[in-house]
Amino acid sequence: MKKNMHVTGDRLWESLMEMAKIGATAKGGSCRLALTDEDKEGRDLFVSWCRDAGCDIKIDKMGNIFAVRAGEDNSLPSVMTGSHLDTQPTGGKYDGVFGVLAGLEVLRTLKDYDVKTKHPVEVAVWTNEEGSRFAPAMVSSGVFAGVFDLEYGHSRADLNGVTMGQELKRIGYDGNEEVGGRDLKAFFEAHIEQGPILEFEEKTIGVVTDANGQRWYEITLTGQEAHAGPTPMARRKDALVGASRIVQEVNRIGFDNEPNACATVGLLECRPNSRNTIPGEVFLTVDFRHPSDESLSRMDGQLREFAEKVAKEQGLEMKFEQIWYSHPVKFNDNCVAAVRKGAEVAGYPHMDIVSGAGHDACYINRVAPTGMIFVPCENGISHNEEEAATPEDLAAGCNVLLHAILDQAGVVEES
Ligand code: GLV
Ligand code: MN
Ligand code: MN
Repeated sequence: MKKNMHVTGDRLWESLMEMAKIGATAKGGSCRLALTDEDKEGRDLFVSWCRDAGCDIKIDKMGNIFAVRAGEDNSLPSVMTGSHLDTQPTGGKYDGVFGVLAGLEVLRTLKDYDVKTKHPVEVAVWTNEEGSRFAPAMVSSGVFAGVFDLEYGHSRADLNGVTMGQELKRIGYDGNEEVGGRDLKAFFEAHIEQGPILEFEEKTIGVVTDANGQRWYEITLTGQEAHAGPTPMARRKDALVGASRIVQEVNRIGFDNEPNACATVGLLECRPNSRNTIPGEVFLTVDFRHPSDESLSRMDGQLREFAEKVAKEQGLEMKFEQIWYSHPVKFNDNCVAAVRKGAEVAGYPHMDIVSGAGHDACYINRVAPTGMIFVPCENGISHNEEEAATPEDLAAGCNVLLHAILDQAGVVEES
């Protein structure tokens, strides 16, 4: 590696701010739900930047984008980095976007320094990481890794019944490359931590060793719609009363499985949602996280038992479905070491850390040696328009990414 080679933090920052204008929200965040017009606009901007950096663009049948920078020997497997450009409805400027644009900044830096790598280097944008518009999360990196098949990916539908396959066509990102056909030497994902630990410990870099497993559920409770005035309390089948007991229990299960459990009901639809009609139907989602499969099974058992009891007691019909199980992940030792070495060489304070959030890297880890780099975010807040990170920390994470990529891709010549 060339002496003192480093990324240009200002350029990375400017690109982040430019991307954030697409779908900008009132409180300073971004809303680019997967496969909407805003997502298309963000993708188009990324593609144009990558073409300017001298890359070839490939798009697969799940709309995953790969910006490829040729290496000395293009028959060798690529070293890939990347993340996602889709956001939560009230998303921030950095979740996912940092990992994509840090990859772009590495490509631009390699061009600036006229560095040729042995292996090709690629930056990936994975479709629908968030799982907010289309559940589950990480669906297209999941198809890439063979966890889901293409038909499953294309048939994921939003709450209005519109599928990913339809939306990929509509926005023109239904590419023709087979999904998962790319041979990878290593994959790295840079991301904001989305939790408070690095900031609290005053570390610039998190060397991610593991990631939480997740189990997602959908529950529909059906009771009976009835008039809020004449219907005596004892004769009601109120679906929302049942749902509210489940919400409380989910929270209790989280506390019960501490220190590492998280348990959330993030989406609840009450039907017909009229103030003087007793709710006849409620749809709700449950999100459980834990670094151990064993604890996730325990949480699963606790939820099932309680939900059945509530349905019986409240006289409700229940449809209970686990729609997703992403197992806990241990990242590749060599990639973790490359990230740690990158932080050491660049002189950044660092620590090992476990990811609480899910990431595309969790699925890519199944088909390629994978590692992740975290940087702090203010007060650990994410999935929030006010999500914040400093230009210095983001540049530091990007420098570590540059080191890790060069470590794996190898440098051919230094002019
Ligand atoms: C992805 O954002 C997740 O829910 O972890
Ligand atoms: Mn993310
Ligand atoms: Mn997210």
